[in-house]
Amino acid sequence: MTCVTCHNPHVTSKNLGDGYFNTKCQNCHTAPKQTTCTAPQAKLDAAKNNCVSCHMPRSGSSDIPHVTIHDHYIRKPIDKKELKGIKEFVGLSLYQ
Ligand code: HEC
Ligand code: HEC
Ligand code: HEC
Repeated sequence: MTCVTCHNPHVTSKNLGDGYFNTKCQNCHTAPKQTTCTAPQAKLDAAKNNCVSCHMPRSGSSDIPHVTIHDHYIRKPIDKKELKGIKEFVGLSLYQ
């Protein structure tokens, strides 16, 4: 999987909408070839089956106001406490 598996570098991701990216997930996550979502059906329906909303949540940045990012560490959703830890800015380091 590379960036262009999901992104078209010539089009800003903001203008593509959720459907565009969810289709990318489903290109691979289709039964029986690849694991599909194991969340309860009622929760999937409530979230309109929007994979990105649960698996790549939007979060803020602590160093730059008004900036949001989508967590690209795709995994099973984590609890609020773990999420808080991720939102905390760890810092950038330079190798010398
Ligand atoms: C599995 C699919 C997927 C892959 C692979 C992926 N992205 Fe994304 N990316 C997304 C989604 C979904 C969003 C949020 C789009 C939106 O709604 O604005 C996003 C948003 C972004 C943004 C906008 C800022 C943000 O976080 O909202 C940047 C920049 C970005 N991706 C860079 C990359 C780069 C660089 C790579 C490769 C190292 C990459 N992405 C790989 C799905 C992916
Ligand atoms: C290029 C194929 C591909 C794409 C695109 C892709 N996945 Fe996956 N994904 C995989 C594979 C392969 C695995 C690991 C094997 C498995 O469990 O089936 C995996 C694992 C996962 C897992 C389980 C991770 C864990 O914590 O165990 C989740 C959740 C997931 N993907 C969600 C997504 C979502 C959401 C998207 C779209 C934003 C996406 N995937 C896009 C192939 C893909
Ligand atoms: C309502 C939030 C939600 C939505 C929407 C959602 N998921 Fe999930 N997903 C979860 C949760 C929670 C789990 C972990 C469930 C568990 O404990 O088995 C999960 C688990 C997974 C797994 C891992 C399955 C395994 O066998 O370990 C994959 C892959 C996955 N989701 C893909 C997707 C894809 C693709 C979509 C969109 C079609 C999607 N999810 C939509 C919440 C969601």
